[in-house]
Amino acid sequence: MNPEKLTLPGLLRMKAKSDAIAMLTAYDASLARLVDQAGADCVLVGDSLGNVIQGRDSTLPVTVADMVYHTEAVRRGLARALLIADLPFLSYHDRASALDSAGRLMRAGAEMVKLEGGAAIVPQIEALVGQGIPVCGHLGLTPQHVHQLGGYRVQGRDEQAAARLREDAAALARAGAGMLVLECVPASLAASVSSALTIPVIGIGAGSNVDGQVLVSYDVLGISPPPRPRFVKNFMVGSDSIGAALEAFVAAVRERRFPAAEHAYR
Ligand code: KIV
Repeated sequence: MNPEKLTLPGLLRMKAKSDAIAMLTAYDASLARLVDQAGADCVLVGDSLGNVIQGRDSTLPVTVADMVYHTEAVRRGLARALLIADLPFLSYHDRASALDSAGRLMRAGAEMVKLEGGAAIVPQIEALVGQGIPVCGHLGLTPQHVHQLGGYRVQGRDEQAAARLREDAAALARAGAGMLVLECVPASLAASVSSALTIPVIGIGAGSNVDGQVLVSYDVLGISPPPRPRFVKNFMVGSDSIGAALEAFVAAVRERRFPAAEHAYR
């Protein structure tokens, strides 16, 4: 494990060297400490906390205040990993709101913020990057758009949707995004996006030919209730502690043993 503190330039170097990036979510200091000690490169305070912490059926009710609270807690648990925090639903609908919301998360200890959406949010990304705030994009299945998408389903399956996703990814990178999460897209589409961009592309249900993997830590630990999506693997199976399960995830990502074909979409 590289003992150095992870930074955005460090992640870009990992992509250049084809070193796989391991990312996990955390919502509190104790789990953050275990994830950090397991060697994860990035820790995401995801708005998935709406589901796994608050027990809601979507991420839409999550507020900036919720994200600030959990980001502060996670910050206290981290030594090495880069801390990314999600901008929640309707907290970045224009440049001013994006700057205000991201500013609150950065003051809480985030080192990068993640936003869901394509070309439509380029102005917000440019405004954030212009103020020195690193940005991670999120395309494919974007849970904040669940009602528009008609449910939690695989995206980019037909050629028109795949082309739009490739264009959106290129637009986010041109706007200055430093990283991109691709959720629930066919593995071949994710691979083509990863090879077209110089920024790291982190997959979740996006196959193995990307630059890294992220999972919700509660899925890795088998805590989340069923039904579990195809891309999830319970790393507690075969591990004798939470720390060992998190280490097993990180090792499987680094050695590109996870995800297997059974976790990917076509
Ligand atoms: O909110 C979250 O946890 C996320 C990951 C699933 C990528 O966005």
